[in-house]
Amino acid sequence: MKETVVSGIRSTGKLHLGNYYGAVKNFIKMQDEYNCYFFIADWHSLTTHPTPENLHGNIKNVVVDYLACGLDPEKSTIYVQSDVPEIIELYLYLNMNAYLGELERATSFKDKVRSSPDNVNAGLLTYPVLMAADILIHKATKVPVGKDQEQHLEMARTFGNRFNRLYNQEYFPEPYAFSYTDKLVKVPGLDGKGKMGKSEGDANCIYLSDTPEAIRKKVSRAVTDGGPTEENQQKPEAIQNLFDLMKIVSTEDTLTHFDDLYNKMAIRYGDFKKQLAEDMVIATEPMRQRINDIANDNAYLQKVVRLGAEKARESAQRTIKEVRELIGFKSF
Ligand code: TYM
Repeated sequence: MKETVVSGIRSTGKLHLGNYYGAVKNFIKMQDEYNCYFFIADWHSLTTHPTPENLHGNIKNVVVDYLACGLDPEKSTIYVQSDVPEIIELYLYLNMNAYLGELERATSFKDKVRSSPDNVNAGLLTYPVLMAADILIHKATKVPVGKDQEQHLEMARTFGNRFNRLYNQEYFPEPYAFSYTDKLVKVPGLDGKGKMGKSEGDANCIYLSDTPEAIRKKVSRAVTDGGPTEENQQKPEAIQNLFDLMKIVSTEDTLTHFDDLYNKMAIRYGDFKKQLAEDMVIATEPMRQRINDIANDNAYLQKVVRLGAEKARESAQRTIKEVRELIGFKSF
């Protein structure tokens, strides 16, 4: 039997290069080899209180981007999380065995407490529990994600194992983060520090749907410095980030060329950024074309999410029925 794969993207807007190279690129390959469930995590996106109009538009954007990247509804199950209420039921059961201390220690929670101290809600605290429910509901073993999600996967294993121990059954298998590359990917942003992410601001992200002009403008404004002051010096974070981005979208020859120039202190950041922007334009070109076509085809989108919900619920209902029996819910 094929192994089961689950992964999702929060519906906070459009997909960026971090989502693509960290996760979606693996989805596309995996759909030929595994039993795949790919979803839009719209419940997760409620932690930041989107307006009803924005919520719907953002969900649609992610469905469109998924399809434009090459996810095939005939090969994998593509669904919207909130179409599968069984996930919330499992979330509730898992919450009974998720402890305050461990939830407070999660890196993503601590980051949010630091960055948004006025919005430390319970949904944020139990975010990893909902994520575990997403994965365990289909009894998945492989979860294609970027580096930033590694700790959440560890927590999903903890919650699944705890359930197994409590009910004395090897019920949930252990899910592991997965990538075809030897390491999980971290795509840096353009602001000179840390990863590409929507919460770091639009200027920090290259979206798959960005126009070539927008890409050139954002890259030209990316943070750099005054240039190398010694031959073969170690690159400061902002410069290393741009080289890391080039490693992802450009050829090896291009990367080596600019690396040599940097090491010889002969690099001109203007030329370097121009090349990086052009290679990003080329990398995103096929998606950009398809995004426009698919976004205008509402009938197709509706068909995709309906079929996805049906298939996802079938699997989720099977799990919930068994979980209820294990817990001891019986009919009169
Ligand atoms: P989210 O929406 O923040 O990101 C979606 C996926 O994109 C990856 N990613 C990155 N990878 C590399 N470099 C980056 N700069 C970068 N930015 C984002 C993330 O690692 C992720 O794989 N909690 C999840 C969504 C989720 C989920 C799940 C994932 C909910 N339930 C169950 C897997 C399984 C999240 O916030 O992803």
